[in-house]
Amino acid sequence: MKILGISAHYHDSAAALVCDGVPVCAVQEERLSRRKNDAAFPAGAIEWCLDHAGLSPDDLDAVVFYERSMLKFERILTSALRAFPRSWRSFPHAMKNSLGEKVWARGIISSHLGIPRRKVLFTRHHEAHAAAAFLTAPTRRAAILTADGVGEWATLTVGHGERADRGTAITLLREVRFPHSLGMLYSTFTAYLGFAVNEGEYKVMGLAAHGRPTQVDRVRKLIRRTPDGAFALDLDYFEYHSSTTRSYSSRFVELFGPPRLPYEPIDLDTAEGQRFADCASSIQRVLEDTLVDMTRALQRETGLTDLCLGGGVALNGVANTRILAESGFERVFVPPAPGDAGCALGAALYADRVYFGQPDRDVPDHPFWGPRVDSKDLLRAAGEDGLEVEELADFQLIERTADELHAGNVIGWMEGACEFGPRALGHRSILAAPHSSEIRDRLNRDIKYREEFRPFAPVTPAESADRYFELPPGAARLGRFMSGVFPVRPEWRARLAAITHVDGTARVQVLQREMAPRLSALLDAYGRRSGIPVLLNTSFNVAGEPIVCSALEGYSTFRRCAIDMLVAAPVVVRKRGPSTLKSIKEEATV
Ligand SMILES: [Fe+2]
Repeated sequence: MKILGISAHYHDSAAALVCDGVPVCAVQEERLSRRKNDAAFPAGAIEWCLDHAGLSPDDLDAVVFYERSMLKFERILTSALRAFPRSWRSFPHAMKNSLGEKVWARGIISSHLGIPRRKVLFTRHHEAHAAAAFLTAPTRRAAILTADGVGEWATLTVGHGERADRGTAITLLREVRFPHSLGMLYSTFTAYLGFAVNEGEYKVMGLAAHGRPTQVDRVRKLIRRTPDGAFALDLDYFEYHSSTTRSYSSRFVELFGPPRLPYEPIDLDTAEGQRFADCASSIQRVLEDTLVDMTRALQRETGLTDLCLGGGVALNGVANTRILAESGFERVFVPPAPGDAGCALGAALYADRVYFGQPDRDVPDHPFWGPRVDSKDLLRAAGEDGLEVEELADFQLIERTADELHAGNVIGWMEGACEFGPRALGHRSILAAPHSSEIRDRLNRDIKYREEFRPFAPVTPAESADRYFELPPGAARLGRFMSGVFPVRPEWRARLAAITHVDGTARVQVLQREMAPRLSALLDAYGRRSGIPVLLNTSFNVAGEPIVCSALEGYSTFRRCAIDMLVAAPVVVRKRGPSTLKSIKEEATV
């Protein structure tokens, strides 16, 4: 069967294609439209998926949308009516959004693709999250927890899944419903701390390490644990359920003090800066504690050893690490795209296994489902611009790149198919030597254009990861897709300063050779030169832009920022003249 999955109209649209039970391709709309977190109907992603597989819409057996639009509409309508008259301003806005696109998903999809309406199916939103987590993981039985901001009504579900010859079952036992939501709680603090909701959650997590959880008792006033093991929010502190412009109430501000304005820099040397860092640390702690409690109860209830985590909350690597350590589960699986984009793949897999009852199949265990880079484009564009451009044999490419990294230069690294999900896992990465905090600061300032308190992640081969990082049992699995945060061993922190966060941790990618052989070879070659096979690995984009997809987008970014050398394997381009980062090179050799 050929099944297309779609997520759209909320945040980070995507399309994914599953043929005969196995993913063929998947891509976020933002990677093609070049609008970060593009939520529009993913026309470009759908077209690319069909082209890539050589299919026309008529060949599809089903197109599956990642949520039940009418249920979502019901939730928006009910919430607005409950909050009336406070909601009277936001009501027309919510209705316009819903009536415009969300409710009419079946009609939009069938008319866009020119397929009969009966071929358009729907999953519940958290079924798609659960399927994206469970059906892509190398496990046959696992407990499942999904948590996000909100889908239709559910904001968190717990259950279990089983893959067996007689069929696949995904059973969601219980759910927490809107407006009670861990994702919305965290996002409310994201907004309060002056960051963009749905994008700035990483910044809250990065800032948390600079603070102390001094305000945990205050945060606990906002969230109460319920006798059934779930939680409820005190809605007096929130406005997201009744307003489209503000997520926290004046009572929230009375409790935590004035919010940070988005354009105010965070100066951690001031009392005000520290207050915000402490606030981030406190919400982070409460989120972790709540998830640990709920997963521990789920482990006791199911008696299972494996846990699959889905939903945007599963992007919180610090929480995932505590769940691994404290829940009692031996293995924790987080897919490369646990958020809403991943629901496109989840919805297609759910329809295949559960709705159509197709036989169980193993899903390849990697994130590389997007468009492939075409090195010829780079060869041509850089050649026309008169830059130093070469096509190298693989061995030469690895050796040359390792030399450049060892000399303190920053590399734009593109190869093969791009990642599905928010993280660069070695096919669209900016790579650099990991040893100097100068490199981190310059990357933030001159290349990524982002706040200096945000850490960079390292990548290291699985065989040597334990030497540099404190990895408990199960950590390598979480590290496969950069889903956990672990301590850098104290004796290596000074030599891994660019990737060691202020609290001594790192969101390490533990690279299995078969997942990215070329990057593995580069780590080996770099290790032969520096003695430490660890590289800084950050996504190949500048602030405000999606991760680059094509060779030309990589080239354009390379031209606009201080990257020294660009690789679209096997083609290499270097900027003319001395490196803009020469000072790093000099300091690195001191
Ligand atoms: Fe979601």
